[in-house]
Amino acid sequence: MKLAGKSAVVTGAGSGIGRGIALAFADAGTNVVVVDIEGAKAEAVAAEVAARGVRSSSFAADVRDPAAVAAMADHGWSALGRIDILCNNAGVCLTGPGFDISDTDFRWQLDVNVVGVFNGMREFGRRFREQGGPAWIVSTGSHHSIGAPTKGIAAYVASKHAVLGLSEAFRTEYGPAIGVGVLCPGIVNTSIWDAGRNRPAEYGGKVSGDPRNQQAMLDLGMNPERVGQLVAAGIENEDFYIWTHPQDLDLIEKRYAEGRDTITRQWPDGPTAEHKMTPHEV
Ligand SMILES: NC(=O)c1ccc[n+]([C@@H]2O[C@H](COP(=O)([O-])OP(=O)(O)OC[C@H]3O[C@@H](n4cnc5c(N)ncnc54)[C@H](O)[C@@H]3O)[C@@H](O)[C@H]2O)c1
Repeated sequence: MKLAGKSAVVTGAGSGIGRGIALAFADAGTNVVVVDIEGAKAEAVAAEVAARGVRSSSFAADVRDPAAVAAMADHGWSALGRIDILCNNAGVCLTGPGFDISDTDFRWQLDVNVVGVFNGMREFGRRFREQGGPAWIVSTGSHHSIGAPTKGIAAYVASKHAVLGLSEAFRTEYGPAIGVGVLCPGIVNTSIWDAGRNRPAEYGGKVSGDPRNQQAMLDLGMNPERVGQLVAAGIENEDFYIWTHPQDLDLIEKRYAEGRDTITRQWPDGPTAEHKMTPHEV
């Protein structure tokens, strides 16, 4: 889908990858509503977007809350007249051994990363369907959507697999009328190592990030503005998957090879009379 002249809502855009997406959209001639739970940061990024010559607006919303996501959509349509693109980018991450994850930390990561993405897809999907014309929804998954590349991040891995699952399900159901994409970044130099700054009281309140994770982002992370440009290109090319790191081919191949090897060992003759399932819709 061509980006010039379109309008987008980007969540989690007060920082990091979301900010990068907002700036890349501005450079491509797309108006942007910058959304974040941290309203002051959203405002600052909206000013940066406007300085690049497109229309912008900011909105403070917590994507966990369907009413807040509906209010964010109302704001978008009234500020910019129409919305053509949604980027479900807000996300959080906590690290630590899997057996030690608390109920509340598991739920917080699933609530923001999965329920938040679903809230956006459903609210904007309904509005896009009613509005008619081209529309696009890109959600931010991760290389953790296609495997478990590192230890100590189990809840996040589960949440990012769900982002890919939701994206595939919505693509099967609504594509190509509503375009669907999933951004799967490797390590990007952002503030996600300190995501606990936004953990609400109901999940235990603010918690400081591990400085070793900040150092890893500084040492190994890609520039988030570059990731924004890749998202803009991915939408223009109408790609479902948007990758930032070619190394992630290893994860895809590992999963594919293990799946192929075990299916062919367990079912060497392929489907038999007991396999009445109809063909997949892919
Ligand atoms: N940085 C990486 O290495 C990396 C890699 C793969 C995927 N991701 C994903 O990229 C996305 C953006 O993260 P980032 O790395 O830019 O981190 P970041 O912390 O810099 O940005 C995330 C933004 O989301 C906002 N946010 C948090 N909870 C929210 C909520 N409930 N409602 C609305 N906004 C909320 C934060 O205030 C922040 O501005 C996330 O989905 C993350 O999981 C990041």
